[in-house]
Amino acid sequence: MPNITFHSSIMKKDKTIYAVAGNTATLLALARAHDIPIPFECGDGICGSCLIEVTLLADKPLMGMALTEKEKARLKELQKITPAELEQAEVNDIPPRFRMACQFVPRDEDVLVSFTGTPGGS
Ligand code: FES
Repeated sequence: MPNITFHSSIMKKDKTIYAVAGNTATLLALARAHDIPIPFECGDGICGSCLIEVTLLADKPLMGMALTEKEKARLKELQKITPAELEQAEVNDIPPRFRMACQFVPRDEDVLVSFTGTPGGS
């Protein structure tokens, strides 16, 4: 069962939640269910307002994960994915550091999720 810790300067303190194994809810849905104020507008990978930074809290590589075309497009638009990260995502399914919370489905790994509280900021 993964622990997901949320960090933001707009929260009084970090909050850790436990995602149920096999849950297919997006990170944004989990955050909303736990009153974690990640900004969002469309909920569908279009607006870019739910930008987050994801850091793995373990000494191992991130689990492989395919990015949606919408997520790649938003990350490119926001200049939050490098050409090298894009190639890693497309060739090896290695996720980049920045993600869209509405497109990210947590896996069985502990992560730190950071966000600024400003739509499209991270
Ligand atoms: Fe619009 Fe995630 S809420 S891209």
